[in-house]
Amino acid sequence: MATFPQLRLRRLRRTESLRALVRENCIEIEDLIYPLFVVEGSGIKQEIASMPNIFRFSVDQLLGEVEEVASLGIPAVLLFGIPDHKDEVGSAAYHPEGIIQQAIRAIKQTVPQLLVVTDVCLCEYTSHGHCGIIVNDYVDNDQTLALLARTALSHAEAGADIVAPSDMMDGRVKAIRETLDERGFQHIPILSYAAKYASAFYGPFREAAESTPQFGDRRSYQMDPPNAREALREVEQDIAEGADIIMVKPALAYLDVIRQVHDNFNCPLAAYNVSGEYAMVKAAAQQGWIDEKQIVLEILTAIKRAGADIIITYHAKEVAIWLAGTKG
Ligand code: PBG
Repeated sequence: MATFPQLRLRRLRRTESLRALVRENCIEIEDLIYPLFVVEGSGIKQEIASMPNIFRFSVDQLLGEVEEVASLGIPAVLLFGIPDHKDEVGSAAYHPEGIIQQAIRAIKQTVPQLLVVTDVCLCEYTSHGHCGIIVNDYVDNDQTLALLARTALSHAEAGADIVAPSDMMDGRVKAIRETLDERGFQHIPILSYAAKYASAFYGPFREAAESTPQFGDRRSYQMDPPNAREALREVEQDIAEGADIIMVKPALAYLDVIRQVHDNFNCPLAAYNVSGEYAMVKAAAQQGWIDEKQIVLEILTAIKRAGADIIITYHAKEVAIWLAGTKG
């Protein structure tokens, strides 16, 4: 067996061509999903303070954005809606003329080939900001299921390609699958936020989506960050209920969870590079403290190396431009 000095691992690192030849992982544009925030009204393109270069768009402004996203080769967007009307039961989430339903139809008319993934959750639509119905100061699991299924169905009816429940209620994948199948949407896949942690990394998103809980927090439904084996049970449950793609969220502080899920299940795996991860990179880059491009590419490559097949990231457009530059 060769050892030093015959064995020299540095031989394959000497030039970029050699390094590229033996490179194990790389970022592919076709694996990225770009999140978008949609508001009611017209003529609105409003930057989110803690997420530089990420905007809230009204539907008319969104169309230019999705054309750009598609022209960059990004295959999919993930839609979040911010309604004008919020109530106890999140009724704007499943209204046929709701903000997301309008956005889906408009995108599908403008760029039909762009995949539209929709976040299925009530938190942006409830007056209390929780992801389900409140009964006795507690988010009631079973009563919430029917509303989530109704929301997913209304997205499918509007033309969504994939529905992505992010609420963390038990049994939601089953409830959604049954409703979709009953109504003729057997072909619509479910991307479940299977292992979603109660994370401080969602802070900027909650500002963007106006979805901060008005009392308490999400710890009674989202996962406890110290737990990894429990994530495998969550994933197992969602696959058993019919999830087609599973997700681990956040990504960067949970690379070990991504790795374990990848090693234990033969199901396409997505990772969500969330708002707080984006905000930290942007803030440091604005200070001139890091090389933004190198940091972003390193982070996304690490998420791939951990085992993710798909990455949801606010960096998608920049990455598409950078990678086109190196190839072209
Ligand atoms: C809930 C939802 C959240 C995110 C995606 N879907 C916020 C939460 O659970 O509080 C966070 C995404 C991000 O931080 O980028 N609908």
